[in-house]
Amino acid sequence: MKLREYKQMAHARKWMKKNMPILTTWHAYVGYELDLFTTFKKPISLQTAADQRNLSQDLLARWVDVGLAVGHLKEKQQLIQVKNYNKMPVKKTKTNMSGILLKEMMELHIPTLLSYPELMRQKSKQEFNADKHGEIVAETSSLLEGLALKKLYKVVKKRNSQSVLDIGCGHGGYLSKLAEKFPELSLTGIDINETVIEEAKHRNANQNIRFMNENVMSMPQTEERFDIVMMNNVFHYIAPSQRQKLFEKAAQLLSPNGQLFIVTPIKNPKHGKPFSSAFNSFFTAFENLYPLPSAKEIHQFSKTAHTKPVNSTSIVREGGWYVFILENKRKEVAMLKPITTQTRVPVK
Ligand SMILES: C[S@@+](CC[C@H](N)C(=O)[O-])C[C@H]1O[C@@H](n2cnc3c(N)ncnc32)[C@H](O)[C@@H]1O
Repeated sequence: MKLREYKQMAHARKWMKKNMPILTTWHAYVGYELDLFTTFKKPISLQTAADQRNLSQDLLARWVDVGLAVGHLKEKQQLIQVKNYNKMPVKKTKTNMSGILLKEMMELHIPTLLSYPELMRQKSKQEFNADKHGEIVAETSSLLEGLALKKLYKVVKKRNSQSVLDIGCGHGGYLSKLAEKFPELSLTGIDINETVIEEAKHRNANQNIRFMNENVMSMPQTEERFDIVMMNNVFHYIAPSQRQKLFEKAAQLLSPNGQLFIVTPIKNPKHGKPFSSAFNSFFTAFENLYPLPSAKEIHQFSKTAHTKPVNSTSIVREGGWYVFILENKRKEVAMLKPITTQTRVPVK
């Protein structure tokens, strides 16, 4: 073998090594989707597992082979078992957090990223189907709740807040937790997606939360003011040219002492650049989604909207997620027209 060929082979081997985590991810994704880690929770033969779950035995055998190779599964006397059940993505348990993330990445992000060569050549973009994917996106965003809620509770307590508006509330996870913890709070959630709002109403049927199907950008002005206005994981739905308007709309809804509470991944974070830049690659592939703002841009919007940053903290380093808290600088409430009830979706 010539030296050049030898070097190329060495490079190819390095790339194979680099690609190895893909196998782990694929294996975990298939395992989650078919709930196979539960099937193999106790030692079981391949054939029994295939019969029990009515699955193709040869494909299951190949999945088991990869699982044994990457260390998700172990084999003893021809019986297969999960090595560490509690660490695997399993449906309907608390660990399904990893499963939901895997599902979004494998079913939504990876196929989109794979379409990059074609999109670049054709200088075209795709249409993000919010009806089809809205549910899973709302589900994954809600995973961050646990981490952001502690900070939100602190703000509510410290400032003795009475009312909260959640812009782009998704399934209403934040509002539902707030309702449990602070039953006296007046809570409102708006979302542009009707299916998502219907699901929010359904999930929170027992809670005293007002949900409305509204586009924040075209929402009629209202006299109502809120002590906290949240915008969590919504910036990539709003074109950069419209973001200043979004901040101004949100800030106008604040009571004089109010605060904006924002949970979002950002562009160019100090930590988590690989995922944050991959999120932006995903968003940019769609004509109706947009890249994330940087912390600097958020601070600039905040300034023009007469709010001042009081806190910004990283909550998921790996993905570049931050919480921003911005305080209203206007001490007087501008008098505006009341909201017209016809444009509101009635609260059921
Ligand atoms: C990624 S989800 C986040 C849900 C929730 N805030 C969370 O963090 O768990 C973003 C939500 O914003 C909603 N949204 C997007 N553009 C909007 C707009 N112009 N007005 C109101 N809601 C909007 C979407 O329908 C979607 O449910």
